[in-house]
Amino acid sequence: MHRAVCPGSYDPVTNGHIDVIERASGLFDEVVVAVLVNKSKKGMFAVDERIQMLRETTSSLTNVRIDSWHGLLVDYCRDNDIATIVKGLRSVSDFDYELQMAQMNRELSGVETMLMPNNPLYSFLASSLVKEVANYHGDVSHLVPGTVNDRIVKRVAETE
Ligand code: PNS
Repeated sequence: MHRAVCPGSYDPVTNGHIDVIERASGLFDEVVVAVLVNKSKKGMFAVDERIQMLRETTSSLTNVRIDSWHGLLVDYCRDNDIATIVKGLRSVSDFDYELQMAQMNRELSGVETMLMPNNPLYSFLASSLVKEVANYHGDVSHLVPGTVNDRIVKRVAETE
């Protein structure tokens, strides 16, 4: 069984994330999408909401499951028998940081990282920018799945 993890904050999941998850699901027997919780960062969505959105938008991918984790990614990989981390790569600036994390994770535990070049359609796309645009009532409906857009619009209205 070749199992991979696609880790991230997913606050919220974007079309760029979905592209990477779909492509990873074609390469591995099982893909776990793990919402990594950063206690010092208050997100737009609670972890349960992020998980719900990921479940809704990946339901057609039968070998993908969603989970969450507080702690080091390498510990999650060890506990869940995962040998490969898959990360999307948007730009050269992403590469610098991703390379450093990949090397650190391998040094800590031997886990390998596969960096998957993003679809160039999404090279500018980041959850943080989606939230910023949406907070100023910009239209992000073409950047995130439909159900995610609905939740963003609702959340922005609630916080005003
Ligand atoms: O979606 P993000 O915020 O770019 O994802 C970054 C994430 C959550 C994958 C990364 O910060 C991470 O792996 N955090 C878990 C804590 C950890 O293992 N830190 C050491 C990295 S070498």
